[in-house]
Amino acid sequence: MHIMLSVVLVLATSLTGVSALPGPLRLANTFSHITNELSHISLGNCSLANASLPLSNLKVGLPEPSLHLTLKYIAVGRGTQNYSCPSTDASSRDKTAPTATGAAATLFDASCIASSSMTLLHELPAVAGRTPLGSLAFMVEMVSSTTNSSDLIIGEHYFDAAGDPFFNLRLGGGDDWMVGKKDASVSAPAKVYAFKIESKDVTWLRLTRKEGKGIKEVYRVMTFEGGAPSTCAGLNDTVIVEYAAEYWFYG
Ligand SMILES: *[C@@H]1O[C@H](CO)[C@@H](O)[C@H](O)[C@H]1NC(C)=O
Ligand SMILES: *[C@@H]1O[C@H](CO)[C@@H](O)[C@H](O)[C@H]1NC(C)=O
Ligand SMILES: *[C@@H]1O[C@H](CO)[C@@H](O)[C@H](O)[C@H]1NC(C)=O
Ligand SMILES: *[C@@H]1O[C@H](CO)[C@@H](O)[C@H](O)[C@H]1NC(C)=O
Ligand SMILES: *[C@@H]1O[C@H](CO)[C@@H](O)[C@H](O)[C@H]1NC(C)=O
Repeated sequence: MHIMLSVVLVLATSLTGVSALPGPLRLANTFSHITNELSHISLGNCSLANASLPLSNLKVGLPEPSLHLTLKYIAVGRGTQNYSCPSTDASSRDKTAPTATGAAATLFDASCIASSSMTLLHELPAVAGRTPLGSLAFMVEMVSSTTNSSDLIIGEHYFDAAGDPFFNLRLGGGDDWMVGKKDASVSAPAKVYAFKIESKDVTWLRLTRKEGKGIKEVYRVMTFEGGAPSTCAGLNDTVIVEYAAEYWFYG
């Protein structure tokens, strides 16, 4: 269930070590590391008892999770945030801001990494965010087939027909899901990723349940990219911005 995490961890260490290599070689190097590391991976049943949201230390103005709820999953989401720019005349586009229309992301299980190191957990969105979506899919495929593990991916996140954010956590064998509504939102803290000069990271959020089973609150934190461009100048009607983030699920 938790192999992906170790894989991403390996990827993280590989990336820092081999960043001077050209792209394709870097990827090959990463895969060989992954293959080597697979034998050391334990398919743990990891406790989230000591995991806590990075809200107070970063002075983020989001409410804490409701007291009666339990942290059930931590996932790293990788996908896109979508925006639209109105089809008005091109000359007014530089005065128009894109409107958020939805998102789509794959949710990777991050609970085991969280239980061993919160520091590593918080590096995952930047690592996943800089891994091309196509390579990510290939990596998951490869790791799944070499380990018999079909549940590296615990869920998916998208917007339903009514335009509400939907979290389907039934892909890893569970039966939890939630249709949410935005309950609180704050700008992503500027200094979360030290190498960034300016934050274009999508907001941090708390979503509460509109409908669902097993989950009552979802947090999106440690966002990497995904924020809207400041104006529609030079953009198409549909704007797709790649992102990654941590999702914390309480129920
Ligand atoms: C996971 O750990 C919990 C508590 O330690 C235990 O109750 C549960 O049976 C374990 N599940 C698996 C699949 O090992
Ligand atoms: C949680 O932290 C406490 C205190 O540091 C420690 O005793 C306990 O073993 C930790 N539990 C887990 C599951 O890591
Ligand atoms: C967002 O864009 C993705 C492509 O990255 C697409 O699969 C998805 O359907 C879009 N969702 C919405 C609500 O626009
Ligand atoms: C993968 O599954 C097959 C058939 O279920 C089993 O024989 C094999 O031992 C498994 N391999 C691993 C690494 O778990
Ligand atoms: C606009 O759409 C066209 C056709 O799909 C694409 O080639 C182009 O890269 C897009 N431009 C931007 C700024 O996204």
